[in-house]
Amino acid sequence: MVRVHNFSAGPAALPESVLERARAEMLDYGSSGMSVMEMSHRSGVFVEIASRAEANLRDLLKIGEDYYVLFLQGGATAQFSAFPMNLASPEDSIDYVSTGSWSQKAIAECSKYCHANVIASSIETGFDRVPEEADWSLGSNSQFVHICSNETIGGVQFKEFPSLDKILIADMSSELLSRQININDFGLIYAGAQKNIGPAGLTIVIVRKDLCSMARPETPAVFNYRAQAEADSMLNTPPTYSWYLAGLVFEWLLELGGLDAVEKINNEKAQNLYDAIEASDFYDSPVDPRYRSTMNVPFKLKDESLDEAFLREAEQIGLTNLKGHRSVGGMRASIYNGVSAGAVHALLDFMKEFETKYG
Ligand SMILES: Cc1ncc(COP(=O)(O)O)c(C=O)c1O
Repeated sequence: MVRVHNFSAGPAALPESVLERARAEMLDYGSSGMSVMEMSHRSGVFVEIASRAEANLRDLLKIGEDYYVLFLQGGATAQFSAFPMNLASPEDSIDYVSTGSWSQKAIAECSKYCHANVIASSIETGFDRVPEEADWSLGSNSQFVHICSNETIGGVQFKEFPSLDKILIADMSSELLSRQININDFGLIYAGAQKNIGPAGLTIVIVRKDLCSMARPETPAVFNYRAQAEADSMLNTPPTYSWYLAGLVFEWLLELGGLDAVEKINNEKAQNLYDAIEASDFYDSPVDPRYRSTMNVPFKLKDESLDEAFLREAEQIGLTNLKGHRSVGGMRASIYNGVSAGAVHALLDFMKEFETKYG
């Protein structure tokens, strides 16, 4: 068996020890005589798996009892529509800060349900930054401000969160669990699982309980936060195996020392990569240094005609999924929790060698 260094933006690399444990438990979970995949979600064994996962996630992120933690489906994309239906009436406005493609998609979806009010955007500088907070023109009739805390395609990340008299909503799909955050700064956080949390198919929603009493009557039951909370996220069949695997990831994170320890590792991995890009005349980062993501590192070769050779030669030595998103081109290394420091070192060695050969 040869495992590659996988820099995919998602679904993405998972910690090897988690996959090994899943393999060991695959055919017979805890002497139940069956795989977790084959279990009823109503069985005592699965309910225990599910509640342990929730408890560990609460522990990792220090989530208080005033928040629901939901394990849903539909990806972050479903949440683009679900939260306006849960939190706002058709006449309401939700303020949006636009820092890239995922912000724009969230805005487009919200517009179907209420007024999406763009209060700041970095589109004019090619989505290379977070617009200065002083320049945000907050709406007078909006209770909420939505941000995408880490733009997966552009590699732009909020380093600090705004402190506003409004309720902050964050799409944290590509960074939840990569660093410690203060949950109390947010009314709602949502994230698709397939980057730092586990396999695709699971979506995490962390929402303040007091915000969950005004869902529109037409909100589909599976996306109704209150209804799902009252059913322990099992209003219908949940994505049981993804939930179980996410639980293994949470245990792995706790064993590593929790999110403070993980954040340190992630900062180091990202810093090493940005330092190398910065020190070279061959590579270039398109993102304002103040907002460079620790999770998704886009970079360009100054001579674009070498892009293909870069990707081909990287692939040959087991460095995969380095092609940048088709909308921006160049390269992108996604270095989520499951991507080891060793994988980043292998990439750095390759980049140096490639530069020596072609530079
Ligand atoms: C920041 C961000 N938001 C939303 C999405 C959409 O997520 P999903 O495909 O789970 O709906 C993605 C997917 O990559 C993402 O990176």
